[in-house]
Amino acid sequence: MDALTLGIPRGYLTDPSLYPSSTPPGCPHDPSPPGGPGAGHGPGADVASASSAARGRCGTCTWSCASPSRRRARRLRGRARWSCAARAGAAAELRLDAHPSLAVTAGQELPVESRPFASYGSALHIALPQPPRAGQLLTLLIDYEAGEGPGVCWLSPEQTAGKQKPYMYTQGQAVLNRSFFPCFDTPSVKFTYSATVKVPEGFTAVMSATSWEKQKDNTFVFKMSQPIPSYLIALVVGDIVSADVGPRSRVWAEPCLIEAAKKEYDGVIEEFLVVGEKLFGPYVWGRYDILFMPPSFPFGGMENPCLTFVTPCLLAGDRSLVDVIIHEISHSWFGNLVTNATWGEFWLNEGFTMYAQRRITTEVYGLPYTCLEAATGRALLRQHMDATGEDHPLNKLRVVIEPGINPDDTYNETPYEKGYCFVSYLAHLVGNQSKFDAFLQAYVNRFKFQSITADDTLGFFLEYFPELKEKGVDSIPGFEFDRWLNTPGWPPYLPDLSPGQQLMRPADELAELWAADSLNMEAIEAVDITGWRTYQLVYFLDQVLQKSPLPEGNLKRLSKMYPKISKAQNAELRLRWCQIILKNNLEAEYSKVKDFLHSQGKQKYTLPLYRAMWGGSEATRALAMETFSATAPQLHVNVQNYVKKILGLAAAEA
Ligand code: BES
Ligand code: ZN
Repeated sequence: MDALTLGIPRGYLTDPSLYPSSTPPGCPHDPSPPGGPGAGHGPGADVASASSAARGRCGTCTWSCASPSRRRARRLRGRARWSCAARAGAAAELRLDAHPSLAVTAGQELPVESRPFASYGSALHIALPQPPRAGQLLTLLIDYEAGEGPGVCWLSPEQTAGKQKPYMYTQGQAVLNRSFFPCFDTPSVKFTYSATVKVPEGFTAVMSATSWEKQKDNTFVFKMSQPIPSYLIALVVGDIVSADVGPRSRVWAEPCLIEAAKKEYDGVIEEFLVVGEKLFGPYVWGRYDILFMPPSFPFGGMENPCLTFVTPCLLAGDRSLVDVIIHEISHSWFGNLVTNATWGEFWLNEGFTMYAQRRITTEVYGLPYTCLEAATGRALLRQHMDATGEDHPLNKLRVVIEPGINPDDTYNETPYEKGYCFVSYLAHLVGNQSKFDAFLQAYVNRFKFQSITADDTLGFFLEYFPELKEKGVDSIPGFEFDRWLNTPGWPPYLPDLSPGQQLMRPADELAELWAADSLNMEAIEAVDITGWRTYQLVYFLDQVLQKSPLPEGNLKRLSKMYPKISKAQNAELRLRWCQIILKNNLEAEYSKVKDFLHSQGKQKYTLPLYRAMWGGSEATRALAMETFSATAPQLHVNVQNYVKKILGLAAAEA
């Protein structure tokens, strides 16, 4: 596979007068009138999109693309066909999000002009012959070629697990899909899509779609029958195969990983889906499949509907990292059904998902284990706030994203863990778990297939619990909803994690013993960690890290005593062990840091380690430079750029 072709314009508009004035088929929604959910200026306006739809309009569009051509390496040629109903007062110009790496090919019948918009994208201005009537259906065809933009990742055979064939994948969230195809690249717009993808012999294409079919000539046809935002469209082309792991689930992976993938999750996914449905309402996406990505995939998981993408680091052999799967499943309701209208409201996606994830985990694995996992999350939030300062503007739930700022650059732990605390606080106000569960289900039902802001969420909460509204729970001093949203800092309310004490206490005590000036080996040897769960070890290591550097010599002994930790293959353990190595200047084990960074490219593992190396000694700085120069080509371009920034190598913005 040298190149792929997907398509857009010859930007031309099929004669609007040929179409009835109606909503396009397949979309349950009218275009939202101005003032509807996610609409208007203020928190609903998406400054990260140049598209016409960004000013509070909720269009409905379908997209189709075909992909041929081996003519040029690493190019994807396509044709996008957008159908959308015009709103009252629409101008005689349509704007789509695009990217300098994306070329609209020649021969337009309508004037199409690409104009600069931001460092992360450009604006495609398409002149219409006249202003459309309200409700008029416009169909726009755009032939285009996408190249090596940030949303389209082309991997050489060496960058795959099997090392035999090239691989390509797309990653849309947050604002990367505008380099994949011209689109309304804003989470405030939802649309259905269908796609036709032709790939070379020996390759398989998969997408985030409710149905797919392989036709002749290695052509795959996909259809997403539910409206979704642009960031959830995803495509992979590679040497991949699948295996069933449940009645509506299969795993996808390169052939050399498929056995391990099947073993990791065979028979466990369905239970999470069933519990999710019981708690939050119907699962509307049909299938729930999981695709194991090449090692450089920058995230633990990405909730592409019907087909979650995950890092191969999850193949721990013992299901210990299944929380990532439960997290991505939870996005099926929070994020994929009810979506943040702008990236400034990202906590609505991630905070509610963390809460949902922990509700499912509680049902399946019990409260103590869930609290233990939540405690490791809280430790991440603590580390983040310590590193940035609590008052940092990104430590608000509602982030003010100024025009020109790349929403991906605002990514941090706050929307996840402070978001989790706020949702837990709402549950605490209600005071009854089943009542709060019922609220969550009603919330999903009320806002499904829509894009909303926190005002919609909190307005609905107060409407659903009028007695709380009456009591004025939104303005309790110190806990005002407005403070939660708009004041940076540590969450004013923390959920009680004490049910996890039975698992955390032994780890706390052991960390204490290892931090002592003179080691009490008798007490240490009396603690048997062989039966500890992965997250107990993670929690223990977080405590050790917090107490580091340990007194001289302690860490060497710890390393020797617990090969289960110091020689771990589990990525969460490896990350913590590497952080501890660096904070203690344990030079003898620096090669482990290097090996870990060579083995995978997840952003949340990569950046903390480079930060630690750069903040350390001359030796660790040299290690950072050496490791980065060897691994940079394998890293996702965003991760590459963040590492460059840490190492002071940042190039001027493209
Ligand atoms: N949607 C996110 C990943 C993401 C966020 C991609 C922002 C691009 C921009 C995904 O659901 C996620 O949160 N993944 C976590 C999983 C964890 C919280 C269990 C990850 O990758 O670590
Ligand atoms: Zn998430």
